[in-house]
Amino acid sequence: MSDKTMENLGQAFVGEAKAYFRLLAFANRAEEEGYPQVASLFRAIAMAESVHAKNHFALMERVGTTEENLKLSFEKETFVNEVAYPELLRQAWAAENKQAIWAFTKARNAEERHAKLYKLALSEMVSDRRTVYYVCSNCGWVEDGVRPEICPNCQSPSELYREVK
Ligand SMILES: [Fe+2]
Ligand SMILES: [Fe+2]
Repeated sequence: MSDKTMENLGQAFVGEAKAYFRLLAFANRAEEEGYPQVASLFRAIAMAESVHAKNHFALMERVGTTEENLKLSFEKETFVNEVAYPELLRQAWAAENKQAIWAFTKARNAEERHAKLYKLALSEMVSDRRTVYYVCSNCGWVEDGVRPEICPNCQSPSELYREVK
């Protein structure tokens, strides 16, 4: 594939992914304003945009074996936690943008946690331990096996945790 096509796929992917989240936010607003049918339309088109994003993504990246994928995911989380987010945080502090500082801090902390969970999963690949994960819908922290009373990353109550099997 040509570099230009790869670049275009990347741009299209970002546009579709943004549209997905934008439309879900629009659907929530429509629900709040009492337009359930419009909310359904936004959710339906959000799903359609996610199909486009998935199709573009499939042309951009290869999916390896599970062991390779765990290693790659561990490396990516380590990079964003140790390099990328600290730099974004430095710039957010310089710009004195409190909301960006909050978002980047919570994400960086959560990424470190994600890296730990990948490392554990790599060491346990052949074990038969089964667990349930709990994800904070406010900050992206992930707990293994126990729903926390209070989020250790953002102090949200346990109701904001979603169970993922
Ligand atoms: Fe992560
Ligand atoms: Fe949280």
